[in-house]
Amino acid sequence: MTEFVKGLPKAELHLHIEGTLEPDLMLALGKRNGVPLSYSSVSEVEAAYEFTNLQSFLDVYYEAARTLLTRQDFFDLTFEYLERASADGVARAEIFFDPQTHTERGVPIGTVIGGISDALDAATERLGMSSGLILCFLRHLPAAQAMATLESALSYRHLLLGVGLDSSEVGHPPGDFADVFAAARDEGLRVAVHAGEEGPPQYVWEALDILGAERIDHGNRALEDAALVNRLVVDQVPLTVCPLSNLKLQVVRRLEDHPLRDMLQLGLNVSINSDDPSYFGGYIGANYERTQAALELSDEELAGIARNSMKATFLPEEEKQVLLDRLDVYTSGRRPVANGL
Ligand code: HPA
Ligand code: ZN
Repeated sequence: MTEFVKGLPKAELHLHIEGTLEPDLMLALGKRNGVPLSYSSVSEVEAAYEFTNLQSFLDVYYEAARTLLTRQDFFDLTFEYLERASADGVARAEIFFDPQTHTERGVPIGTVIGGISDALDAATERLGMSSGLILCFLRHLPAAQAMATLESALSYRHLLLGVGLDSSEVGHPPGDFADVFAAARDEGLRVAVHAGEEGPPQYVWEALDILGAERIDHGNRALEDAALVNRLVVDQVPLTVCPLSNLKLQVVRRLEDHPLRDMLQLGLNVSINSDDPSYFGGYIGANYERTQAALELSDEELAGIARNSMKATFLPEEEKQVLLDRLDVYTSGRRPVANGL
């Protein structure tokens, strides 16, 4: 990775913690917890990562998540990610987790949130990283289960930044989850929704107008609808784009075909994120780097993308400004001043 990309202060806003489970940790946890896996080596695991669409990935991703059982497991998973992200210049991470993947197997939600939160605290202390936690509902399961999940999570309300919606998109429109998102907003939780990865522009409209989405995760197919693009530009609704994910799940055929440059030219707030980096061939730094190479982005354009990511965080304005100032110092080539900015 170039020194410029590595050092560029950035926020990661589209990252599923379960998607950071590296093959070696998966195998170690399988052993530690006595969970049988159909793989016996890292190369066997990696050989299974040939995906043709979102569902073909989700099948492998949910299977691997069965190895996560204890608070320590969730801590280890999360802290490993945070160390990698910090090394890639991530100053702020707003992290998704999928509680239903674990509670369905009998793992208490407190174990999941507790282990992840312990790691976020450790990263603040040891790495100086700022972070937040976003609870995602699985859209392939009924809305009533999402509501029950929200209710059980409210004992941990103080540890949550927001709610999201992920899993199999087509056939599961955002509008089905109107009630649970209304309840979450009443609790003051922020809202980010996966839409337009494989689903139609209509799902992006529903995410905005029915669920109150403040960010759209992916959003690629929004480009098919000019009125929608206009709405996203006028309101500066961030799109958290994931280039290597799009390549691996065949949303785009080649990285050179990725619409990110078009999105920038339209005036959309787009950021670069890693989604499920253990499965998609690279963490956030690799996503910046490979997208730069494929689309011939300049350092100024990369800095603009990092700026978008800072603006799109769910931080209070003053804290956002601290990050934006840090980015300005970096891009203007000045030496960091004594207070760390
Ligand atoms: N899309 C939908 N659901 C997901 C994803 C994704 O990219 N990653 C993990 N769950
Ligand atoms: Zn995602």
